[in-house]
Amino acid sequence: MSLLRLDEATIKFGGLVAVNSVSFELNQGDLFGLIGPNGAGKTTCFNLITGVYAPTSGMITFNGRNITGTPSNKIAKLGICRTFQNIRLYGSLSSLENVVVGGFLRHRTTLGSALCYLPGAIKETEQLKHQALELLKLVDLDDVANVRSKDLPYGKQRRLEIARAMATQPQLLLLDEPAAGMNPQEKMELLQMVKKIRDELGVTVLLIEHDMKFVMNLCERIFVLDHGEEIAQGPPSEIRNDPKVIAAYLGEAV
Ligand SMILES: Nc1ncnc2c1ncn2[C@@H]1O[C@H](COP(=O)(O)OP(=O)(O)OP(=O)(O)O)[C@@H](O)[C@H]1O
Ligand SMILES: [Mg+2]
Repeated sequence: MSLLRLDEATIKFGGLVAVNSVSFELNQGDLFGLIGPNGAGKTTCFNLITGVYAPTSGMITFNGRNITGTPSNKIAKLGICRTFQNIRLYGSLSSLENVVVGGFLRHRTTLGSALCYLPGAIKETEQLKHQALELLKLVDLDDVANVRSKDLPYGKQRRLEIARAMATQPQLLLLDEPAAGMNPQEKMELLQMVKKIRDELGVTVLLIEHDMKFVMNLCERIFVLDHGEEIAQGPPSEIRNDPKVIAAYLGEAV
């Protein structure tokens, strides 16, 4: 059984069909890339999967369950978590605190009871802190655990977003342009990190990325969108040589 399925997912904004009858399928453990030129509808696909928008038509299935139109908070509880194209961290909280906040979703403790120092909440908060530190180690940020997130360089903020998403213990992790703004060294480290998240934690990854080299090196299968529609889908070796993909990226090295 597939983990995630989109069946002819479509969304219209007024007269614009941002995503037009898109169908793809991810199996457990996949490293799947979603690419396409600016405005192709990639982030909108994430918004459909995570319940930010309900599709105009079509169906989305997760673990065999119809999640079409399910609101975002419920989607996160079902095991899908994402990062955003524009970083959304709590700037004045430390790296560790940002990850702890992500973890509250999975625990009985609410942020409110933790702030009131209820005994059960204190124990759970300690566990969450421990887990958060492990996640900071995973993304190599344990040395900046107590630094305010807004004081971190951009590349580290992007990695912190991944750690925070991982704190919800997702089965499926959606990354929206995780390598944006990173230098080649940071990109290489990120690539290893995402591989590790899949290999060691068994998390399935769906990733949007403009850096072709990054996508081709990381993903085992790639789906290409253009003007909201599928133009190709397959392994990197096929995508790289697909005339429709080359045309969509006119002049860019694929
Ligand atoms: N809430 C909305 N209302 C109206 N139009 C929208 C909305 N969200 C997205 N769009 C439009 O849908 C199209 C696809 O946008 P989307 O953000 O999904 O593109 P993208 O592939 O992620 O592009 P980029 O690579 O630039 O991030 C664009 O034309 C965008 O303007
Ligand atoms: Mg986008």
